[in-house]
Amino acid sequence: MPSKLGFNASLALQAALVTERAAISASKLVGRGDEKMADQAAVDAMRTALNELAIKGRIVIGEGERDEAPMLYIGEDVGTGKGPEIDIALDPLEGTTLTAKAMPNALAVMAFAPRGGLLYAPDVYMDKIAVGPGYAPGIIDLDKSAADNAKAIAKAKGVSPEEITVCVLDRARHADIIAELRNLKARVLLITDGDVQGVINATDPDTGVDMYIGQGGAPEGVLAAAALRCVGGQMQGRLHFRNDDEVKRARRVGIDDLDAKYDLDGLASGPTIFSATGVTSGSLLDGVKISGGKVSTQTLIMNSVDGSVQRLRSVRPA
Ligand code: FBP
Repeated sequence: MPSKLGFNASLALQAALVTERAAISASKLVGRGDEKMADQAAVDAMRTALNELAIKGRIVIGEGERDEAPMLYIGEDVGTGKGPEIDIALDPLEGTTLTAKAMPNALAVMAFAPRGGLLYAPDVYMDKIAVGPGYAPGIIDLDKSAADNAKAIAKAKGVSPEEITVCVLDRARHADIIAELRNLKARVLLITDGDVQGVINATDPDTGVDMYIGQGGAPEGVLAAAALRCVGGQMQGRLHFRNDDEVKRARRVGIDDLDAKYDLDGLASGPTIFSATGVTSGSLLDGVKISGGKVSTQTLIMNSVDGSVQRLRSVRPA
């Protein structure tokens, strides 16, 4: 198991500073209709902040491969080079469309793990299913239908399927899943974007979400798994390839078994730090607010080592 060296409260706070800076930069482009510019602003700020940290960091989930992403590409070394060896998964702007359209729930997201603690997932799709803590191991299974999974959750909770809420990305590819769940009379919470948050919501009883299911980005799958390692829960993921190029990308990052069904440990193992700062306000976090010469942010910081979950409100000069 990777060592816990350096995975303390101080490192968690440093991670928070990184997502805060990305969120603040992206927030200046909320509602401008330009996804790329908002993403670039978050990437630039996140890279600058990461390079100030006393870590030997390496991006394992980033903005893409070196040839397509000039910054925060997979394999890029970040940090001062002095400090713990850390693998980093990041999504400087999770919800580029949400930001461009000034819609809720855009986040800046990052996870730290010791070397080898995160799946080196290529930028392809992943089929995912997740539930929060408190269920018997194996309650969810990607190879079972959405309805059977929802029924299993309902049985474990001692309620009827009508009382189960399942979060699903609103995409045409999920039409069958949605129809199946609605046939069962389960509630389907459709989100337009942002399945890292979709998965996290399934771990928090206050959100009313019992399960997340569907296909989204594989990088987002690893980030969500890093969050689940901190708060508990179960998750499975399987990469989904649309063409040979995507298969090649997987091979390049060392994936041999293209059909592997990853459980939570396969996606993120060992000590993990997860940080997310709200860009626009949403169900998980408040967004960045700039007024009266001050900028305020809200950040969710989780650390699997001590099981801590903190919501940090920061105010600093704008
Ligand atoms: P980005 O804004 O980071 O590009 O991703 C938003 C997102 O909704 C993710 O949360 C999700 O995993 C993915 O896009 C789904 O992809 P698609 O929009 O192609 O269905």
